[in-house]
Amino acid sequence: MPTPLPSDWSDRLALDRAHVWHPFTQMQVHEADPPVPVVGGEGCDLLLANGERVLDGISSWWTCLHGHGHPRLVSALERQAAKLDHVMFAGFTHEPALELVARLRPKLPPNLTRAFFSDNGSTAVEVALKMAFQAQLQRGEKGRDRFGALRGGYHGDTLGAVGVGELENFMTGLFRPLLLNCERLDVPEDPRRDLAPDLTHWPERLDAARQSIRAFFATHGERLAAFIAEPLLQCAGGMRMWPPELLQELRAQCDAHGVYLVLDEVATGFGRTGTFLASEQAGVAPDLLCLSKGLTGGTLPLSLTWGTEEIYGHFWGEPSSGRAFLHGHSYTANPAACAVACASLALFDDQPVLANAAALHGAMVDAFTALAGHPAVRRARVLGTIGACQLVDPATGEAHPPEARFGWRLHRRALDRGLLVRPIGDCLYLMPPLNTPPKRIREAADTLGDLLAG
Ligand SMILES: Cc1ncc(COP(=O)(O)O)c(C=O)c1O
Repeated sequence: MPTPLPSDWSDRLALDRAHVWHPFTQMQVHEADPPVPVVGGEGCDLLLANGERVLDGISSWWTCLHGHGHPRLVSALERQAAKLDHVMFAGFTHEPALELVARLRPKLPPNLTRAFFSDNGSTAVEVALKMAFQAQLQRGEKGRDRFGALRGGYHGDTLGAVGVGELENFMTGLFRPLLLNCERLDVPEDPRRDLAPDLTHWPERLDAARQSIRAFFATHGERLAAFIAEPLLQCAGGMRMWPPELLQELRAQCDAHGVYLVLDEVATGFGRTGTFLASEQAGVAPDLLCLSKGLTGGTLPLSLTWGTEEIYGHFWGEPSSGRAFLHGHSYTANPAACAVACASLALFDDQPVLANAAALHGAMVDAFTALAGHPAVRRARVLGTIGACQLVDPATGEAHPPEARFGWRLHRRALDRGLLVRPIGDCLYLMPPLNTPPKRIREAADTLGDLLAG
């Protein structure tokens, strides 16, 4: 029986155009610029159907940690798929899930003792929100019917996660009638991450931000089940790097007001910011921690929501007590995904993954220092392995108007030059796999410099 897939890529793209609906995409765009066919992945590169190689400068939506097709991850996947592909996780357990918990636990704050598996970043957040709300109810706190979140945050696309994302954002605005109650708090960006920092009145500005966190909790603290934040770095909000001192203040205020602190390390976890978790840099341990993306090294979807013994205790009781956490997904703790996650964590133990991340940090500082000299670039900044800057029209010094679709055009032009970047609005950033050779980052900066000049 012949395969129904046409052999020629132009016919395959016709199939895509006829039947496929891509994520985060106004599909009309693909009439002029069809999706780019990818046929392979090798280290920090993606291999395109036209024979070109492109540097995966954004780790395929911040997932790929150790490069594509890492042999240790591939062989873990093959071995596990041959042994046990999947089994429901209600009433059953298996070796890869237990090994994953045993490997990850010592790398996390010691108060996080209970792991709940799900499938992706959004579901890890949904689980955390539902757990926090139910735990508050079951400890007798009945009036906590809302959440707190940072302005400019992004926590995923399911309705609960959208509800704690940025309200003014077009997605949240559209779905507002369907969303849960959320109070939002502004935090300033951290000028110390800028490569040319303006530290004028910084101690006063930091103190004012602390005061506004206290005022926020004085107003809303009694009604909040939990406060959720992406520690140190709001990624999809435009690579906003914010001060660790304010995360410490959030922790203190959550404690003072009986509010659970949820840290969403879906994007920042696993070495991206230079430490295993970003929150380590503030010395802050959350009550609930969301992990995904890099959890499997970027190979398969999987996520974990870690909670404390205190939270777990509020769900404990007789089967008839109605206290259980009644949430789960068909593929919860998929064994193949867990096995790849174990292989990825093993690399942290026996390879210099964080040392590579430190070398990448140095390369990022050099690259963005070079880009910062360009008249089209403002506010170059670096946190760990992530470099970012704002793009402006050099003639006016203002951001490009959205209808110019400058970011999209830069993305397509960069692909032709062997580089995958995908600006978020006017924020251009690089977040490549942790073992990307520094030389490739220098080349990427040269390419971007050329494209911005052209
Ligand atoms: C901080 C953060 N939380 C949650 C999510 C949602 O993850 P997923 O796309 O896997 O649902 C993302 C995705 O980018 C994210 O950056």
